[in-house]
Amino acid sequence: MDEPSSAVLKVDKIPVTDSTVGGYVALATINRPNKLNALNVDVMDSLKTLCAWVENSDEIRCLVITGAKPLPAEEGKRAKPNSFVAGADISEFVGMDSKATKIKFTDNAVESLWSLTKPTIAMIDGFALGGGCEVACSCDIRIASERSKFGTPEINLGLIPGYGATQRLVKLVGYGKTLEMVMTGEMISASEARNIGLVNHVCDHEELSDFTMNIANKIASKSVYTLKTAKRVIKAALNNTLNEGIAIEAEEFAKLFDSHDQEEGVRAFMERDTPNWRDQ
Ligand code: COA
Repeated sequence: MDEPSSAVLKVDKIPVTDSTVGGYVALATINRPNKLNALNVDVMDSLKTLCAWVENSDEIRCLVITGAKPLPAEEGKRAKPNSFVAGADISEFVGMDSKATKIKFTDNAVESLWSLTKPTIAMIDGFALGGGCEVACSCDIRIASERSKFGTPEINLGLIPGYGATQRLVKLVGYGKTLEMVMTGEMISASEARNIGLVNHVCDHEELSDFTMNIANKIASKSVYTLKTAKRVIKAALNNTLNEGIAIEAEEFAKLFDSHDQEEGVRAFMERDTPNWRDQ
């Protein structure tokens, strides 16, 4: 399957650097800059196709997802602001009833992103609002520019978040902060987002791409087999009691000792060599 670029989702394959593994980091850019990269049906369909491709491609070791930069301002008009994703496309809400909404929001692309077994990073430069904040929350790591803004403004539309923020945001920032964000609909700055645990790192917008790709490359140079185990086990902490989670960890930790890459990692350490992962 070729990389699943579409008019609204640009996908680039960036070769993994500083590693013996080869392969690529997939850089997916949501591309509706004139609508602040709002998630319409086309974007959601493209994101689902992207997730299936990332999951099944042996070449892709990590996914970075971002929003397209604003286009140059049209004459006599102001430039659009920088945006990761300014939410679900509100124009598609007009005339929708509960039945249509259930179909649109069930088994959606944000869940596909969440369900990916490979590592995912959101690279955020600008607005991450509503569905944009939820896309970010569905990734494993969030890295934002200093000029980014986060929020769940659905309350202003007579709505609540519908792509998982009532649940995943709670896991990231806690019950009280989620209630405040959802009930006020107010935006928070990138530095506040970092302070409350919503983003992992904040950096200057000019350094965002290098900073993010550096982390993506670091992750992409590990064994995908081991990374998948790490992600699966850490996610188990969200749905299980502590004792259940510890039991899951013990099981999965032991299982790794039957893998090629565990043997190879230990061999490479002992022989002061570089590990040659086989992702198995
Ligand atoms: N859905 C559809 N279109 C959107 C959108 C969204 N979520 N967010 C922005 N846009 C569109 C605007 O309609 C506008 O289109 P136009 O130029 O064709 O009229 C364009 O993107 C630029 O947005 P604009 O509102 O003019 O920019 P701004 O700098 O004045 O304000 C925001 C930026 C982010 C504060 C504002 O766009 C906003 O509040 N967006 C909605 C955020 C939201 O409620 N998200 C949750 C949805 S569930």
